Formats: sequence, C-alpha cells, structure tokens
Amino acid sequence: MPDDKPTILVTGGGGYIGSHTVRLLKDAGYEVVILDNLIYGHRDIVENVLQVELIVGDISDRALLDQLFATHSITAVMHFAAYAYVGESVKSPAKYYRNNVAGTLTLLEAMLAASVKNIVFSSTCATYGVPQVVPVPEDHPQSPINPYGKSKLMVEQILADFQTAYGLKYICFRYFNAAGADPEARMGEDHTPETHLIPLILLTTLGQQKYVSIFGTDYPTPDGTCIRDYIHVVDLANAHLLGLEYLLDTGKSDVFNLGNSNGFSIKQVIEAVQEVTGKSIEIRYGDRRPGDAPTLVGSSDKAMKVLGWKHQYPELKTIISHAWNWHQKRQGQK
Ligand SMILES: NC(=O)c1ccc[n+]([C@@H]2O[C@H](COP(=O)([O-])OP(=O)(O)OC[C@H]3O[C@@H](n4cnc5c(N)ncnc54)[C@H](O)[C@@H]3O)[C@@H](O)[C@H]2O)c1
Repeated sequence: MPDDKPTILVTGGGGYIGSHTVRLLKDAGYEVVILDNLIYGHRDIVENVLQVELIVGDISDRALLDQLFATHSITAVMHFAAYAYVGESVKSPAKYYRNNVAGTLTLLEAMLAASVKNIVFSSTCATYGVPQVVPVPEDHPQSPINPYGKSKLMVEQILADFQTAYGLKYICFRYFNAAGADPEARMGEDHTPETHLIPLILLTTLGQQKYVSIFGTDYPTPDGTCIRDYIHVVDLANAHLLGLEYLLDTGKSDVFNLGNSNGFSIKQVIEAVQEVTGKSIEIRYGDRRPGDAPTLVGSSDKAMKVLGWKHQYPELKTIISHAWNWHQKRQGQK
C-alpha cells in the first residue's frame, strides 16, 4: 500500500453508501477515519469488514470535531452523515434541518478552523423536485418538494457560499436511487426502517414482509407504474473516489448527478426480483402518493465526461442479485 495517500474523514461511514465507499478508499490505499454516531450505522461492518478507525460521535459535536482534526491529518472529508427518510422529514422537519443543515454547518466550521478545505458531499435527486425534463441534467431547476430535499439543497447553497467566502472546495454528488450490495456480499443495504424498493421486495421474498405495495398504476409510463433510476452502490462508491481525485488534483468545485442513465418501472423491478430469486411475491395496489413524479431518471453524462466515470454494474438483474446474495447471507440462508 502506498504511504503517500492522504487521510480521509468519512462521516456516516457506518451507513450503506458510506461503508461501500470506505472499502474502496481503503483498497485504493487511503487512510480512513469514520465519524458516525451509529444511529443508523453498523459497528460490526466497520470493525469486522472495513477495519478502519471508528470515532463514535456526532457531526454537531464541535469539541469532538476540533479534537478529531487536531489529532488526525485530514486532507478531505466525505460527508455521508444525514437523515434520509422523505416521509419522516415531512412530519419532523426540525429534525432534518437540525441534523442535515445545522450539523453540516458545524462540520464545515470545524473543517475551516482546521484548514481542511476539501469536501465531497452526498446530495440527492430529491433537490430537483418533480422534473420538467427527463433524463434530468445538473442544470435542471432545483425545487425540492419535501424538507429532506430542501435540507440537501440548503447545504449545496452553503457550500457555494463557503467557496466564495472561505475558499472551500467541494464536489456535490446528486444520487438517484442507490441499490445493490457488495459483490462479495460482505455488506449491503440495511436500513431500519427500510423504505427502498429493492430491499423491501427482497424482504418480502424472505417472508419478513407480507406483500409489496405499488402506489399508482395509471402513470403515463409504458406499464402505468413509476419509473426510477437504480444505481449500484459500488458504482456510486467508485464515483466518490474519482470525485475525490478530481478535487485534490484540480482544486475545482463541481456538481454531478450519479444515476444509472436507465429507468426501470416498479413492475419491471418486481419482475426482475422474481426472476433472480425464483420466488413470487404478493403485490397490493394502492392509490398514487402525492409528490411521486411519474419518471425520475438522471443524466450522468457529466460525471462520465469530466470524471471518466463508467458503470461497472448497470444491469438491473446484477444489482438485484448482489442485493439478494447479501440479504440471504445476512439471514443465514446462504
Ligand atoms: N440511499 C440512497 O438512495 C440515497 C439517495 C440520495 C442521497 N443519499 C444520501 O446519501 C447519504 C448516505 O445515505 P445512506 O443510504 O448510506 O444512509 P444511511 O442511513 O445508511 O447512512 C447514514 C449514516 O450517517 C450516520 N449519521 C446520521 N446522522 C449523523 C450525525 N449527526 N452524526 C454522525 N453520524 C450520523 C448514520 O448513523 C448512518 O451510519 C445520506 O446523506 C443520504 O441523504 C442517499
């Protein structure tokens, strides 16, 4: 392992996307320190799989951050830590603005105080709201329709202002729907509660849920169900390494969508899961939910062109089979 690679602080590195990214960072020879309050993170994955330093604490704890930056020579921060439940954000917006916005502000101020001026930030396609054009490009207007999306947009705006005022450099990645798992099934998607479609369907096949709900079958899409963009978590993680290198090499801030570039309808996802697992699933049909766009697919052309990013696992069935392997392993069924 080269010993000249910088040390990266990964907030939320015990969570789903953070843990997959830490693995790639480590494989690439970076030193990694994770800061995670473990509210949703997984200590066992950090300790047994990733085997990097874990500081259990909160991004809003300024004294802890000052100590962390004083005792570690951090070159850049990858900032995954946030709350990310859209429905909860509508019911409890204060919780989201406090953690995602105020917490990030504390982190940024501590970074600047320690002269750490590089950050890779996890933003979201939810900052676009209901798209006017599909696939959505980065310069699409941002009009989020829930506090979660608004909290992420606020951070994007703070980052731009901090660049102007303090010289902070940033990469914002607007992810579409992260999915899949480590191809060797060492880690995967383990949210509690789970709200994402693919793990929900897999949990149904494993008998942990009775049925899968489809909300709305009369959308203007070929099969009437919503179309979404599912991006393999390892492809997301790879983009983070490329974004970090770009930031450190060029010192240029930028914003990139990260998606599959292909959309899949809810029905297509369910059929693909049934094919991969060989199990049939009970489906219940409900009414449309307010705020669900018929089609939400991103254009990732910019990340491909500027960062040289390529999808390693664009096929829906590969994404599902990696997730399925991991879910079975976790259940002790493999
Ligand atoms: N999963 C997706 O499809 C998706 C899509 C778009 C954007 N994102 C964003 O990507 C990031 C990671 O998402 P994920 O799916 O891995 O979520 P996750 O919940 O699995 O990971 C988030 C991690 O942050 C930690 N955390 C939360 N608040 C913290 C705080 N105040 N201090 C320290 N640690 C804290 C949690 O314990 C958890 O380990 C989030 O910022 C999310 O908004 C995710």
